[in-house]
Amino acid sequence: MAYTEEINRRRTFAIISHPDAGKTTLTEKLLLFGGAIHVAGAVKSNKIKKTATSDWMEIEKQRGISVATSVMGFDYEGYKINILDTPGHQDFAEDTYRTLTAVDSVIIVVDVAKGVEMQTRKLMEVCRMRNTPVIIFVNKLDREGRDPFDILDELEAELKINVRPLSWPINIGAKFKGVYNIYENGLDLFTPDKQRVSERVEIDDVNDPRIDQAVGETDAAKLREDLDLIEGVYPEFDEEEYLAGKTAPVFFGSALNTFGVKEMLDCFVKIAPAPRATVTEERTVNPQEDAFSGFIFKIHANMDPNHRSCIAFLKVCSGKFERNTVYKHIRSGKQMKFSAPTAFMAQKKSIVDEAYPGDIVGLPDTGNFKIGDTLTAGEELHFKGLPSFSPEMFKYIENTDPMKSKQLEKGIQQLMDEGVAQLFTNTFNGRKIIGTVGQLQFEVIQYRLLHEYGAQCRWEPLSMYKACWVESDDAQALEAFKKRKHQFMALDRQGRDVFMADSNYVLQMARNDFPKISFHFSSEF
Ligand code: G4P
Repeated sequence: MAYTEEINRRRTFAIISHPDAGKTTLTEKLLLFGGAIHVAGAVKSNKIKKTATSDWMEIEKQRGISVATSVMGFDYEGYKINILDTPGHQDFAEDTYRTLTAVDSVIIVVDVAKGVEMQTRKLMEVCRMRNTPVIIFVNKLDREGRDPFDILDELEAELKINVRPLSWPINIGAKFKGVYNIYENGLDLFTPDKQRVSERVEIDDVNDPRIDQAVGETDAAKLREDLDLIEGVYPEFDEEEYLAGKTAPVFFGSALNTFGVKEMLDCFVKIAPAPRATVTEERTVNPQEDAFSGFIFKIHANMDPNHRSCIAFLKVCSGKFERNTVYKHIRSGKQMKFSAPTAFMAQKKSIVDEAYPGDIVGLPDTGNFKIGDTLTAGEELHFKGLPSFSPEMFKYIENTDPMKSKQLEKGIQQLMDEGVAQLFTNTFNGRKIIGTVGQLQFEVIQYRLLHEYGAQCRWEPLSMYKACWVESDDAQALEAFKKRKHQFMALDRQGRDVFMADSNYVLQMARNDFPKISFHFSSEF
C-alpha cells in the first residue's frame, strides 16, 4: 500500500469519560466490531476501584492491566484504528491529559442519566486547548434518564461546544425502541443483547410508513416532530466545523447492549481525521514527510522492581519508523537503535518492523526517556504541546534516611521524568514540593521510591491552592512581584518561575496588585 494511503487510513483517538459512564464497555464493543476480540467481557477495566485505594497489590495488578490495554489497534473496513486507553481513576488525570496530546480526535461518553460530570468537563478543556475534534456518545439509553433535548442543551452549556445530533432515540429506559440514524437515514430497532448487533430497518426517509409499522404510530409521530425540531434548531452537520473542534456530532445508544455503537463507528471512520500535522518549536511537521519523527507521551514503569525497565510510548508523527534503524534522541543528542519495538494489535503486544504516522510504538527503555522527548531521523525538532497543568494537591517531600539521599534524589528525578507528578523547589527555603492531581499518587511515589530505589520519604502537609506559572513583558514588574512574594516562589524542573498561591483569595489579590503579571495554570502559554 502506498505510504500516503497508509497514513490516510489511520484513525488514532481516545475515549474519555467520567468514571462509570461506560468507556470500558464502549471500547470493548469497538474491539468486537474490529474482530479484535470475539466475546464481550474480554476487556478488563483498568479502573482502580475506589475500595482498593490503599491495596497495593491491587493497584500494581491494575497497572499491569493498563499496560496491556494502553493502546489497542485493529483493522475495520480498511481503516487502521488505534484506541489509546486513558486511566479511569481521576487521580491519574494527568496521564490522560498527556495521552490527549497523542490523539487526533476523541470520543466522549456521557451517561444519559447523569449528564456532564466533573471529569468530562476537565478533559474537554484539554481538547478545547488543542482544537481536538470530538464525537459524543450518550450512553445507557436502556435506562431511565434525561430528556435528550435537555442533554443536548447541557452538553453545549457545560462542554462549551456546539452539538449536532446525528442519531436520535425513540423513547428511553423501559420504553426505548431504537434510534433513528440521521447521518445515514436509517432506523435501528433495539433488542437488548450484549453480543448481537441491532436490527436495521431499511427506509427511504423519515416519512416512510415502515417506521410506523416498526415502532407504532404514536412514537413515529413523536420521532418526526423531534426531527423537525432538530432541523429547525441545529444547523446542518458540517464536517469542517467538526474537524476544527467547534461542533461535536452526538450519537445515542447503549454500549452494554451493543446498540448504536456500530452506527457511531461507521460515521467515525468516515469523518474523524487521519493523522494531522504536529507543531514543533522549529516548524510544523506533516505526516507525509519522508523523514521519521515522533515524541514520547507516556512512560510506563515495569512492575518488577528488580528490572528497572520501562516502556516508553512513542507517537509517530512523520515518516516511517523502522526497527534496527538509528534515530536521534534530541534532548541527549544520543543515537539510538531499537531492536525490539512493540506495536499493539488486538490487545496483543508484538515486535514490529515498521510503523506509520498515527501509530504508537512501545520502546523498551532503561531510564533514557522523559515525557515530551523527541526522536527524529536527525533533524533538531522539539515537539510542543505537552503542557503541565497546575496540580491540585501539594506536599513537602522529606528524606527519612540520610544515608540514602542520593537514591532519593535519583528516584524523585526519574519518577518526575515518567510524569508521575510534578516537582517544584521553593526558592525561599530550598524545600522540595511534590504536586499531584490526587492523593493516590503520593502513595504511589512513596511506595515506588522504597521498592525501586531503596529510598524512604515522608510527606509534610502543605496547604496550597494552585501553582501558577508567572511571566511578564516587564522584567522589573516581575522582579518586584518575586520579591514581594519571595516566600511563595518556586521553580519548576525547567527553571520556570512558579507562584504557589495558598488560596483563591490570595491569587485574586495578587492579580489585582500586579496587573503587569500574567498568571497561567498550565506550563504552556
Ligand atoms: P467506565 O469505563 O467509563 O468507568 O465504565 P464501564 O464501561 O466500566 O461501565 C460502568 C458500568 O456501567 C458497568 O456496570 C457497565 O456494565 C455499565 N454500562 C455500560 N454501558 C451501559 C449501558 O449501555 N446500559 C447499562 N444499563 N449499563 C451500562 P458495573 O455494574 O459497574 O460493572 P459490571 O459489573 O457490569 O462490569
